[in-house]
Amino acid sequence: MTSPASPKTYHVKSFGCQMNVYDSERMGDLLSADGLTAVNTPEAADVVVLNTCHIRERAAEKLYSDIGRLRQPRADGSRPTIVAAGCVAQAEGAEIGRRAPDVDVIVGPLAYHRLPELLKQSETGRAVDIDMPAVPKFDSLPQRRIAQASAFLTVQEGCDKFCTFCVVPYTRGPETSRPAADLIAEAEALVARGVREITLLGQNVNAYNGALTLAGLIRALAQIDGLERIRYTTSHPRDMQGTGGDDLIAAHVEVAKLMPYLHLPVQSGSSRILKAMNRAHTRESYLATLARLRAARPDVALSGDFIVGFPGETEADFQDTLSIVREVQYAAAYCFKYSIRPGTPAAAMADQVPEAVKDERLARLLAAVAEGSLAFNRTTIGRRCTILLERPGRKPGQLIGKTPWLQSAVVSIPGAAIGDLVEVDIVDAHPNSVEAVPVVPSSQESAAA
Ligand code: 5AD
Ligand code: SF4
Repeated sequence: MTSPASPKTYHVKSFGCQMNVYDSERMGDLLSADGLTAVNTPEAADVVVLNTCHIRERAAEKLYSDIGRLRQPRADGSRPTIVAAGCVAQAEGAEIGRRAPDVDVIVGPLAYHRLPELLKQSETGRAVDIDMPAVPKFDSLPQRRIAQASAFLTVQEGCDKFCTFCVVPYTRGPETSRPAADLIAEAEALVARGVREITLLGQNVNAYNGALTLAGLIRALAQIDGLERIRYTTSHPRDMQGTGGDDLIAAHVEVAKLMPYLHLPVQSGSSRILKAMNRAHTRESYLATLARLRAARPDVALSGDFIVGFPGETEADFQDTLSIVREVQYAAAYCFKYSIRPGTPAAAMADQVPEAVKDERLARLLAAVAEGSLAFNRTTIGRRCTILLERPGRKPGQLIGKTPWLQSAVVSIPGAAIGDLVEVDIVDAHPNSVEAVPVVPSSQESAAA
């Protein structure tokens, strides 16, 4: 059974975080520039890229089960060329080669600019590149072809923090920032293609340091005509504590295009567990940061990440996590059960928490988070705001757009289209969405009266 010698179509499947979504888009740009056409399903593709994530549990198993499906011969006896990309490829490259001999290309997140070359090389045997090259991949990527109103822009990669549970410092390498001038040029090109909202991405986006600080970059991007909204994620509490944090908080006050939203993972509400996690912040310093931000920008929406069942976590520690959720009233939160990542310090810690205890804590945490999201959404009832329409709703005529606070707002606006920014009033709230009605322009109001 052979893979196609001259592939014509490709499909990129993204498993993980927003940074992976950005990488998937850029791998698509590379393959399109090489003459291949994107197709919507892996079944229809000559080349299938599996862009893996190592943070989620059973990430490797998902990869192997996908490979197992893809290697089944098709009606004409062929199978697609299979590319394992992303953080699992980086962390387990050699192992993938052994366990899944049908994989044609193994490429890490810092080397995917070489994808077209690796595909050619794979015609004569498996091609592997999991290097962390000195020359950044961004310098050799083609123009973006995005055709959406909202786009991601990776500004920073890697992590120097070494939280004891996390693989990212090992798979994405040390913290590096792209030069501000390159980012401004990429943003201008995106806006020229119709993009109206840009989300700046980085594993530690607020550690950005590329001639400008993150706040400086945001101020520069805000000068671009046609760019209406700027967001950034994910921030680290440690980088919010000093003057960098003050600068970013000031930007939230001064820059109207910067949306009032901060994703600031705390992971645990217990300072004892935060120490064992090597987070370099405490419950108190985290809450102090949020208080400074809220004093400056009272309407800011907050979100976080949480891990339950970190080694040694007691019921009392977990109660601290529940109480921080209630105290902060997060608009959204992403909750995970601790799971062992081989090679990380926490994997070897004594006092691993039994699975049943993790399950039970996760259920209680999710309930507290849902309560908080509903309470937050209720505080926005009566607000007038602009939403960016993103996709059709469930019922005919309905559209779903994002509010400045990143809520999904369901609205019916005759004549409006995806990609439009429209003014609405929020009229009702649910745990995961709000309902909105369009603001009738005053001329229509008087015509109707
Ligand atoms: N177990 C559980 N959750 C984890 N995360 C990272 N590593 C692990 C792990 N080993 C979570 C953290 C991080 C988010 C992206 O994934 O909460 O902020
Ligand atoms: Fe992982 Fe911690 Fe770095 Fe975030 S800050 S990527 S959780 S090591």
